[in-house]
Amino acid sequence: MNVRDSEAVAALLEAAGHVRAAGEADAELVIVNSCTVREMAERKAVGKCGNLIAAKEGRGRQTIALKVRIVGLMGCAVKRLGADIFKVLPHLDFAVGPRRFGLIPHLVERCLAGERRLLELPDDDEVPSGLDAHPDIARGGTSAVFQSYVTILLGCDNRCSYCIVPDVRGHEYSRPAREVVAEVRALAAHGVKEVCLLGQSVLRYGLRNKAWTDADAPSPGGYTEPFPRLLEALSGIDGLQRIRFTSAHPKGCTDELVRAYREFPKVCRHLHLPVQSGSDRILAEMGRHYTRAEYLAAVRKLREFDPEFAVTTDVIVGYPGETAADFEETRTLMDESGFDNAFIFKYSPRPGTRSAALADDVPTAEKERRDQVLLDDQERRGQCRNERLVGTVREVLAEGPSIRNAARWSGRDSGNRIVVFEPPPGLAVGARVQVEITEAHPQTLVGKVKELKS
Ligand code: 5AD
Ligand code: SF4
Repeated sequence: MNVRDSEAVAALLEAAGHVRAAGEADAELVIVNSCTVREMAERKAVGKCGNLIAAKEGRGRQTIALKVRIVGLMGCAVKRLGADIFKVLPHLDFAVGPRRFGLIPHLVERCLAGERRLLELPDDDEVPSGLDAHPDIARGGTSAVFQSYVTILLGCDNRCSYCIVPDVRGHEYSRPAREVVAEVRALAAHGVKEVCLLGQSVLRYGLRNKAWTDADAPSPGGYTEPFPRLLEALSGIDGLQRIRFTSAHPKGCTDELVRAYREFPKVCRHLHLPVQSGSDRILAEMGRHYTRAEYLAAVRKLREFDPEFAVTTDVIVGYPGETAADFEETRTLMDESGFDNAFIFKYSPRPGTRSAALADDVPTAEKERRDQVLLDDQERRGQCRNERLVGTVREVLAEGPSIRNAARWSGRDSGNRIVVFEPPPGLAVGARVQVEITEAHPQTLVGKVKELKS
């Protein structure tokens, strides 16, 4: 989400006449986009701002001279800290909370006119501007990228006990379907082949506020739930080849969603479905509103529809009071779910959340141990799951030279699995290739190109 918001800000600044710098060393304006979901993330963002301000004032210990004249901070750490941000960073030029980044070009103008320490904090129900700004489209040319993020839902009202998101990102708000469809259509017209729809809980799209109005077209397939209906509308866009979305809550895994996966081949067969814990006791304390059995039923439903369906997850280890037995439940749930990938987080108490009132009683060393156990399990599980795909042919959109070995290219299959292959001559970024898998690794597949499509 922050990557997407940063892109939108870049587009808005370009539209206001600013020019993109080649890198940090050349930039006169630097804006740090912050996250406060875990303490460490916030500390890094604020620390980075501090270093930039020191460089600007000639106090830093930078090895290269920076040209920076204006330093801004955006994102959810700003909302959490409020005016206190200027106690921590007295010489910060401006600070903008989540839903107000559309004001950044204006704030930059004010800073250029000599103003300092500007603060913009959004209300919980604010509807932002600038959400549909994309750099390449703002420049009027064909997109240099073939993948794009599209924000469809903001904020969250779930209030999981450990999570600061509802406090800093405001109430759930679904963007009007008409706006989303227009944005994706414009992206596709500029050469974008794959979109990833973003929201804290995208399957809740259109449930709190109506995203479809009576003036919008009715669903040709008879879909009644707003999110599958959005998938149906986006599937009809020419040039668009793939639709992804993230993140999801198991409650949204409805029959209509599965029907949309089945009926719309553009919808990728991958769901990021954060589980957080496998222990019913901890899930209840977290206020997740599902049991272990309900979660497993959601995963089963997806895999019954397609055994190769990729499911990935987020897990928190060391939640207050998490016993060895609770942790074991998480391990077995992860095995039963056969996750294709998993992000493991060590519990971090966040001010103002319900769990912050509980003792953070799992020692750091034990959190680290549990983290490592789950990572090792996932490494084995990833290997195992990927080995089942050896011999299959995967459709991959080519992304470009692989990070590890530039002679090879990589791309992703519908399940978001990274596939590495030798590029046939003349292969273009974004081209569709059929790759036969010859080798499996825990996080990647390796294969040979069988066919190049477009
Ligand atoms: N501590 C650790 N991890 C957290 N997450 C959210 N809040 C916390 C916290 N206080 C994790 C959850 C979520 C992911 C984005 O971050 O796993 O799914
Ligand atoms: Fe946080 Fe829960 Fe909302 Fe996800 S669903 S953003 S974990 S409150």
